[in-house]
Amino acid sequence: MRSILVTGGAGFIGSNFVHHVVDSTDASVTVLDNLTYAASREAIDGLPGDRVDLVVGDIADADVVDPLVAEADAVVHFAAESHNDNSLNDPSPFVRTNLVGTFTLLEAVRRHGTRFHHVSTDEVYGDLELDDPARFTETTPYNPSSPYSSTKAGSDLLVRAWVRSFGVAATISNCSNNYGPYQHIEKFIPRQITNVLDGRRPRLYGEGLNVRDWIHTADHSSAVWAILERGRIGETYLIGADGEETNRDVVETILDLMGQPTDAYDLVTDRPGHDMRYAIDSTKLRTELGWAPQFTDFRSGLAATIDWYRANEAWWRPSKDAVEARYAEAGQ
Ligand code: NAD
Ligand code: DAU
Repeated sequence: MRSILVTGGAGFIGSNFVHHVVDSTDASVTVLDNLTYAASREAIDGLPGDRVDLVVGDIADADVVDPLVAEADAVVHFAAESHNDNSLNDPSPFVRTNLVGTFTLLEAVRRHGTRFHHVSTDEVYGDLELDDPARFTETTPYNPSSPYSSTKAGSDLLVRAWVRSFGVAATISNCSNNYGPYQHIEKFIPRQITNVLDGRRPRLYGEGLNVRDWIHTADHSSAVWAILERGRIGETYLIGADGEETNRDVVETILDLMGQPTDAYDLVTDRPGHDMRYAIDSTKLRTELGWAPQFTDFRSGLAATIDWYRANEAWWRPSKDAVEARYAEAGQ
């Protein structure tokens, strides 16, 4: 694969993936991104111009998508509206981008016979009880809770249907919660880090007992590349790094690493329909494709992420007050 179209390549995980491709392969990348509030040109600035190209455009626009797909050897599809809280305030962009956008890409890869990898989330499986011994696997039934996760679930089902009905050469991955550089500060970990840097207190929804399964975004990138290269067409692979933590533990670790008392946080209004626990069993990916995560120590991954936000205040500072004002309206 010499030429890869990466949708959403100016977002958090997409931009980290573009860096991974440039650093560890000789493929060239075209990023298709319409630069929503969640995008960051800086995240891909500085990459070699002969390897990486940015096209500003909408994945739901067939006239934009078709010629780019025609030129690509493979499409890796990250573009999405990705934040649950936003989907509760206004679901409409989620329906357009996550469903119509994915449909538009699928029609283009069908026309051109292009390899397609669809990046999805563990949230399509709904949630687990805290004491459930089970984790999500590739055969767990879909049961999404929010407008975000239901549109991602719908997009996965479109991909499966295009594989079966039209023979599209696609794979799907469902990954757990990512952390690392360039994550938008509306999301949990960067919100709390930048709160502390800004002299504000971290905010935990509800009792803070919900569990997320954390993976460094660099490990997500290497997993997606392994699936693109060696995954079996039509298959789904779950991506996770055995990183289950309660939200309270995450905040206490951040406070500790930043030299603050570990109880210096506030409990705030819970998220409606808040999923209790996500947990990934990534045995299939590890045994079939030989993938393993590199960031296995969450505390040191978190420390490096804190350092990144400390060193890159110019990147997050302009949006901080507006993000916090939106959360304040919701009592969060
Ligand atoms: P993000 O919100 O940081 O980035 C999304 C990117 O998509 C942005 O650059 C945005 O401009 C672009 N985009 C949005 N709508 C578009 C459109 N209509 N046309 C073109 N570009 C558009 O998201 P993220 O956290 O990097 O997530 C990337 C993907 O990974 C998503 O598909 C998400 O569902 C999935 N995922 C995320 C996580 C996580 O923890 N963040 C975990 C598992 C899976
Ligand atoms: O599981 C994968 C998913 O992880 C991805 O599909 C989504 O794109 C990504 O946003 C993420 O979804 P979550 O809803 O789990 O992530 P978020 O960062 O919004 O919240 C993580 C947890 O922290 C969740 O239990 C809600 C809680 N939370 C969040 C914020 C922003 C707080 O307690 N306080 C906060 O201020």
